[in-house]
Amino acid sequence: MPDLSLLPPSAVVAGADLLIGGCSLAAVAERFGTPAYVIDVTALRDRAREYAAALASFHPRGAGLVCFAVKAYPSVSLIRVLVDAGLGADVVGAGELRLALAAGADPATIVMHGNAKSDADIQSALDARIGHIVIDGFDDIDRIERLARHRTPVLLRVSPGVESATHAALATGGKGSKFGVPVEFVPQAIARLRDSQVIELRGLHVHIGSQIAALRQFEEAVAALASLERFAVYDFGGGLAARYVAEDPAPSVSEYVSRLTGAAHRLLGEDIEIMIEPGRSMVARAGLTLYRVVTVKRLARGKIHVAVDGGMGDNLDASLYGQRFSPLVVGRQDGEQVVADLVGKHCEEGDVITPGVTLADPRVGDLVVVPVTGGYSFTMANNYNAALKPPVIFCEDGTARAVVRRETMDDLLAREIG
Ligand SMILES: Cc1ncc(COP(=O)(O)O)c(C=O)c1O
Repeated sequence: MPDLSLLPPSAVVAGADLLIGGCSLAAVAERFGTPAYVIDVTALRDRAREYAAALASFHPRGAGLVCFAVKAYPSVSLIRVLVDAGLGADVVGAGELRLALAAGADPATIVMHGNAKSDADIQSALDARIGHIVIDGFDDIDRIERLARHRTPVLLRVSPGVESATHAALATGGKGSKFGVPVEFVPQAIARLRDSQVIELRGLHVHIGSQIAALRQFEEAVAALASLERFAVYDFGGGLAARYVAEDPAPSVSEYVSRLTGAAHRLLGEDIEIMIEPGRSMVARAGLTLYRVVTVKRLARGKIHVAVDGGMGDNLDASLYGQRFSPLVVGRQDGEQVVADLVGKHCEEGDVITPGVTLADPRVGDLVVVPVTGGYSFTMANNYNAALKPPVIFCEDGTARAVVRRETMDDLLAREIG
């Protein structure tokens, strides 16, 4: 029996098939083709509710808001599920803001980030009158002062000097980070903001990176903010790790929120307004990618390549961050186990979805599921080798529907105007 614990809780083996949200993956593959991103909508909604309930219960004396970090899954349909479950949105720039608004997010619950916000980004936030623009540096202050025609609420992003234990590309809180204002310059930034006629500084923001499992690092970030003056609002960013393979530590949402709010209450007070911005941990487990095996190659010394019809075009996590996954072959749970490299179809030796993984009797035409691809895979889909970006299929209560269609050959040519 395969380990289903990495898949959405609704996953069940049904003979030679696997059901997600009551939908047959064999039927999904048949109807929508592969590769396909599959989302278990109930799991997604439940996760949103779990986050909101945890913040409400561990932070009862002050206001709280969970904002979905749109960068983790920038699809309007998916954002709408989370917004309808009561979440706000964390957006980077005018593009993500457009998606959040299209999904129906209340502008008052939107926070805009960006270490290099353009005039157009800032203008879009001002026009939509979003809840907060997060000041990432002194140039943001200049831009807002030049563009704002009304009083503009902001948070100030502090670079806390916390070196988080994650992939270097995902660590955003260390000394030398390109994000935020280093602690030693924060008093100067606060003074500038307080001097402004149009800007209202409401609080501080910190985000130390992504895929972080050591909860004490979030407490360290809170402590860094506590070394500064007190504010009414604190936004502690996102970053909670997802469990990609069975051995991964995976602190629960309630452990994370309880440690974070505990530190905030001790160091900053209990009646503050708390915001958090989970991305990866909100969507990762609700999503999976469905592929079909195109070829199986047996090389010398027992090495096996199982190549599927996707790869780096739809999942950059493996090649960018060395992320490991735990794929399974649908319907072959009782077959002979082989150790193989699950590779993609793209023209690069590094196009490996997961090296050295145990697969059950993989054969050409089989369906392969890669679990825990809800976070950032859709985000970073690309057209390497002119691959068509996969569709997004929502599965819920036995009904599967495409909410993002597969790209077409015409889409590949659509922007050529020369
Ligand atoms: C400012 C900010 N908030 C929230 C997030 C979401 O992080 P994660 O997806 O790890 O929860 C990010 C992503 O790195 C971010 O840059």
